[in-house]
Amino acid sequence: MEMQVNPQPTFYIFKCEQSAPPGMPKPSCVDDNTQDLFNYLSQTLMQKGLMGAVQPIRTSCLGRCQMGPLMLIEPGHYMYCQLSKEKIDRIVDEHILGNDPITEFLIPKEFWGEPVSLENKGLKK
Ligand code: FES
Repeated sequence: MEMQVNPQPTFYIFKCEQSAPPGMPKPSCVDDNTQDLFNYLSQTLMQKGLMGAVQPIRTSCLGRCQMGPLMLIEPGHYMYCQLSKEKIDRIVDEHILGNDPITEFLIPKEFWGEPVSLENKGLKK
């Protein structure tokens, strides 16, 4: 049997799809007002012919719930926060198509910061 080679996407977009049960004090990225954002993102990518080059992925909590709804774009560790359909439109046009991340939509540094270093944890030479 011949294996088909699938080209890898240029971007992955991890959209937090976590919803908290009613009464939970902690906020979550999906509620009645935000539950259609993943579908909106996927439809936008499809309409612009970007599927394949961009892979949207539903994920669970990304650990920054107070700033949700969130999505993480790789490569680059770009964490976009407090998403709306209008922000998704601009992120697709400017970051994905224009290769120009939108600084003002990124999560503030006090909530994100630098990646944890494996060297500093003594896990890598
Ligand atoms: S619920 Fe989305 S980051 Fe935690």
